[in-house]
This record gives sequence, C-alpha cells and structure tokens, in this order.
Amino acid sequence: MYFSAKITETVSWIGINDRKSDSFENYIPLPKGVSYNSYFINDEKTCIIDAVEFGSEGNYFKKIRQNLNGRPLDYVVINHMEPDHGGALSDLITIYPEVTIIGNKKTLTMIKAFNHNFDESRFQEVVEGEILDLGYHKLTFAFMAMVHWPESMATYDITEKILFSNDAFGSFKSLDGGLFDDEVDIASFENEMRRYYSNIVGKYGVQVVNVIKKISTLDIQFICPSHGILWRTDIKKVINFFNNWGQFIPDEPGVVIVYGSMYGNTAKMAEALGTDLATYGVKNIKIFDASKTDSSFIISDIWKYQGLFIGSCSHNNALYPKIEPIIFKLQNYGLKNRYLGIFGNKLWSGGGVRGIQNFADASKGIEVIGTPVEAIGDPTFENYKELEELARLMAEKILNKKIEKLES
Ligand SMILES: Cc1cc2nc3c(=O)[nH]c(=O)nc-3n(C[C@H](O)[C@H](O)[C@H](O)COP(=O)(O)O)c2cc1C
Ligand SMILES: [Fe+2]
Ligand SMILES: [Fe+2]
Repeated sequence: MYFSAKITETVSWIGINDRKSDSFENYIPLPKGVSYNSYFINDEKTCIIDAVEFGSEGNYFKKIRQNLNGRPLDYVVINHMEPDHGGALSDLITIYPEVTIIGNKKTLTMIKAFNHNFDESRFQEVVEGEILDLGYHKLTFAFMAMVHWPESMATYDITEKILFSNDAFGSFKSLDGGLFDDEVDIASFENEMRRYYSNIVGKYGVQVVNVIKKISTLDIQFICPSHGILWRTDIKKVINFFNNWGQFIPDEPGVVIVYGSMYGNTAKMAEALGTDLATYGVKNIKIFDASKTDSSFIISDIWKYQGLFIGSCSHNNALYPKIEPIIFKLQNYGLKNRYLGIFGNKLWSGGGVRGIQNFADASKGIEVIGTPVEAIGDPTFENYKELEELARLMAEKILNKKIEKLES
C-alpha cells in the first residue's frame, strides 16, 4: 500500500523512505537509510510542506494524487531548497501547473539557482510571522538561517500546533513502519540522530540554540522534521538533544580514541590508551581506526563523549591522510567543551603529532591534557608509561575525581 499516514485528521505524512542511496550529500554513508518527510494538509486550500529528493520519489506523486482526490494543489511550502527536499519541485510544478510556491526572499534565489527558467509568477514570498490561511489551518513561518542553509525556515501550523521543523530535529535512518516517537524504539534512532546532527548541522550550533529559543514560546503538539521520526509524546527529548548538541554538551562520560596508522605502531598506542583508561575506571571507550570506520560515525561519537584522543602517524611532514579530514571537520565545525589527548608516531621529522597540536592551538574550547606522546617506530616502555599518564589525566577529567598513579 502506498497510503499516506495520518498525523491528524487533516494532516498526513506523504514522505519517502530512501533505503537505496549509499550516501547523503554524496559522502555520508546511509547504512540505515534516510527518510525525506513531506506533508500534505487537506483544507479548503490544499498544501504540501516540503518535497523529497529527486530520483527517490517512489510513490510520492501517487500519494499526492490520492490525497488531492481530484482537487487542485494550491500550495507547496519550501522550507529549504537543498535537493533532498527541493529535488522533486520541478516535477511537482510540471504536474501541478496551478500550484503556488511559498518561500522567503532567499528561497526564491535558491530556486532560481537550481532552475534558471523558474517562472517567478508562481512564487509567493512570505516574511517571518506572516500567516498563510488555508481555511481551517493557519500557517506561519519562522526563519532559521543556517539550520541548515541561509533560506531555511520552519512552518508552524497555529491551528493544530504542528511545527514542521525541516532539517532541525531531523535524523538519519528510514522510518520502518512507525512514524512517531511513541511507535518506535527511540534508542534505535539516537545514534543516527546524533550522526545526522553532528555531520550535517553541527557547524551551526549557535543557530540551532537560537531556533530552540525562538520556538520556546510556541505551544507545540507535534514536531514534524524533514528526516526521521516525528515527535508527539516526548517532544522535550528531541529538543534537549539538539539543545545540548548545539552547545557541544556531551551526552555521557566517555572517551573516543581515534587513530591513523599504516604499520600498526600508532595503533598499539591507541590500544594501550584504551586499556589504561579502562584500568582507571572509564567505562565508555570507543577506539576507531580512521582508515576503517567512516569519519561520520567517529564524529558522531566525538559529539557524544567529552574525552578525545587523536593519534596520527606522520605522512609527508603532515597528518595521516585519514586523520586530516576528521581534524579539518572538527575545526571547521568549531568543536568545544572537549578534553584532548595527543599521540602519534614518526621516523624522522614528524608531522602527525604536530598536525594535531596545530588543531588544538587553533581550537579555543578544547583543553589539551598532559603532554603529547610521540613514539619513533615501535613504542618503547617509556612511551607506554607516558601514555598511561595521559590516560590517568583523561580519566580524572572524565570521572571528575582525583586518581592516583598505578604502581608498576
Ligand atoms: C608515505 C610516507 C610518508 C611518511 N612521511 C613521514 C614524515 O614526513 N615524517 C616522519 O617522521 N615520518 C614519516 N613517515 C614514516 C612514518 O610516519 C613512520 O614509519 C611511523 O612510525 C608510522 O607509524 P604507524 O606504524 O602507526 O603507521 C612516512 C611514511 C610513509 C609511508
Ligand atoms: Fe539541508
Ligand atoms: Fe535535509
């Protein structure tokens, strides 16, 4: 069945689950898929909120036809023009030539950038707080620049208290039947929600927190984002998640150890750190080989935990090529509120540890603990002692208590 799912009597989810695409924005893996949530409002005026990715439409147009039931399509609200939502717009316009596209001034510029032949007379510009009257439903608009693009906005249905939040409060992972937070195992979405946030929106934490402030005065019964689960029972939960992530507040005590190693020497150092941390009482420890695990998963766990060890062998006077993009992204996104331990390996003039140190120096909200440990080839007994001390200092920070050195 391709029937759409009801949110209220007159509002339906008509989105699409994409289980086929390998990656999002053509670089972030989608092992659990993603949904493009689109909504249909059945009123005196018919209205769609956001479209879906081009090429993944599936039954999308059938669902629209079914909901319209012979009536014309009056409006499509474009909260955000990124192709995962705006992709199907051209086809929508072709199939429904009478439709009016709703967006803000910047949306129009974006639409024209994607479609230079766009007929502007089809476009109706709205300003923040303006009301679009569908009959029973009164929609209004809250701009949320940079969550995720400059033109991004949320649409609020004043009548049924639904916040169509677009990329804000979104998640990777397709909807496997259940739509709402109370119909699914939320825990199964948490990691994919954080991976979505930290990799897609993570640079715009300040803007996310501002959006949360902006909507705090609204009576919200439903949060309907453009990806992932819809919220109606534990709305505070999703707001808390995004509020914390936006401020770089970690979810749990724990440490990520990520390393890049060609011959296994830096890897040995990472293993030692893991064992030492556990000995000192840290429970959540995640060790990642940056050559093996896609960086989006590593970055997600860096958002989750407060402790971070980065290790790199040296490569042409610089960082190892699989560590470099992770560091670049952390710096670009302005990672804060983290403790960082540095380790690495070299044979001659180095470059790995230096590269991590440069990142630390350039990142204001990151506190480097202890002294970087740089081994030359196979780590020595002395190197292992230095790593043990780094682990002890990290454990003190993470567990927030004084920890004595182990006798050995
Ligand atoms: C392509 C290549 C470039 C390297 N560049 C450097 C370098 O610029 N400086 C340095 O000290 N060592 C350099 N090395 C040596 C490695 O960093 C060194 O062997 C290190 O111990 C490897 O650590 P691993 O066992 O964790 O891979 C290079 C090695 C390779 C293969
Ligand atoms: Fe987006
Ligand atoms: Fe999106």
